[in-house]
Amino acid sequence: MSKNKISSSSAPNVSGGGTLFRTKAGVIAATLGSAVGLGSIWRFPAEAQANGGGAFLLLYMACVLVLGIPVMLAETSLGRGGRADAVGSYMKLAPGHHWWIAGALGVLASYLIISFYMVVAGWTLQYLWDSITGALYAGADGTPVLALESTFHHRMEQYIGSDIAPLISTFIMIALNMGVLMMGVQKGIERASNIMMPLLFVLLLLFSIYALTLPGAAEGLEFFFRPDFSKITWSVAANALGQTFFSLSLGIGILITYASYYPSSTNLVSTSATVSALTTFVAVMMGVIIFPTVFSFNLDLSQLRGTTLVFVTLPEVFSQMPGGRWWSILFFVLLLVAALTSTISLSEVSILFVQKRFHKSRVVSTLIMMCPLFVFSALCSLSFGSLSDLKLFGLTIFNFLDTFTTNWLLPICALVMVIFTGWFAPRGTFRSQLTNGGTIAVRLYPVVSFIVRWVAPLLILVILATSI
Ligand code: TRP
Repeated sequence: MSKNKISSSSAPNVSGGGTLFRTKAGVIAATLGSAVGLGSIWRFPAEAQANGGGAFLLLYMACVLVLGIPVMLAETSLGRGGRADAVGSYMKLAPGHHWWIAGALGVLASYLIISFYMVVAGWTLQYLWDSITGALYAGADGTPVLALESTFHHRMEQYIGSDIAPLISTFIMIALNMGVLMMGVQKGIERASNIMMPLLFVLLLLFSIYALTLPGAAEGLEFFFRPDFSKITWSVAANALGQTFFSLSLGIGILITYASYYPSSTNLVSTSATVSALTTFVAVMMGVIIFPTVFSFNLDLSQLRGTTLVFVTLPEVFSQMPGGRWWSILFFVLLLVAALTSTISLSEVSILFVQKRFHKSRVVSTLIMMCPLFVFSALCSLSFGSLSDLKLFGLTIFNFLDTFTTNWLLPICALVMVIFTGWFAPRGTFRSQLTNGGTIAVRLYPVVSFIVRWVAPLLILVILATSI
């Protein structure tokens, strides 16, 4: 085995001299901000609903613990060990080898993901605006309850199927990202996360308290917390694994990028454990919010699927709640905050890549990478409107990018990443990063290392096999 190790002169703790996150809280807020996004707020409740409620929750928690945390440790150790962008970190740790291609695929994957993610983030911006002006509920007053669903459905289809309005909100979203990203790592990313993440938790708390006091909350909680193990199948397990990667921002270089900003004193183990625990907590809170609400308003559970939950079902609920418009505003702020901190991290992967590989300033790198997004995201946005007939492998541009990145690129990048960390990175990189050069005891190191070498590659292969 040791023959396979790349003998490299680069010590595991290459010092970068670049910008680092300023505080421990900043490290957690930024990393958590990346993790908590549409994945936990929107995708999780839908996955839980379709896959047996509590059974899915348990399976997801098991995946986070057994696979999520070790993979997060592998990825952050590459980032802080290499102290560079996703491509550069591989190059530093394995000079003269071709492992950097995995980093390049990560840059590609994150870029393709932001192209379509910006579109959905843009929709939330429009729905926030329409909640503030009241336009979202203008037609709903006096509409009989039974007709509400079709009213909001029609509204959503009209909106996302039109060309101009969603384009404008997508562009505003890209511009907001550029604004934060140009301000840099400490003044932009870290400061924005430090403000937005506490806000997100306050909002989640408000919503959970409200949901728990609804009549009929118990029924919803029972659905969410009582596991129906008969629902667990191989494909449900693969979904839980996929949700773990998606929700923890694993596998596509985001964590390599962010960890390159972690100070050398950052404890990777406690950081990864905290971020994973809080992300899971957000998912649980979303279940606690969504299921009691859906049950107490007698809505159809199958409505949680896809775009319907956020853009149809919840507006339907808000239109019937006392003070619903205020709740609606708060909800879309919550979603926007979650989406914004995630798009920032997705964008940062390619920005640091340009900054380091092509030696450009931060502002120029931001412009180089973000300006083409106006075109790519526009194509994704228009694929619900004028370009809906344009198909790639039978899918619209938006759906193609979503499927291709999540089902293919992400598992491939993640697979190479764990194999590299487990088997080929310079001797001792992983252990030295986890223990901060031997100064902290990591009792579970043998377990984590075993998972990264054997279990993680096998499980990622399972995800890939299920996609095929
Ligand atoms: N983790 C974020 C979220 O849940 C961002 C994200 C979405 C993401 N898709 C991803 C990160 C795929 C990594 C891989 O919204």
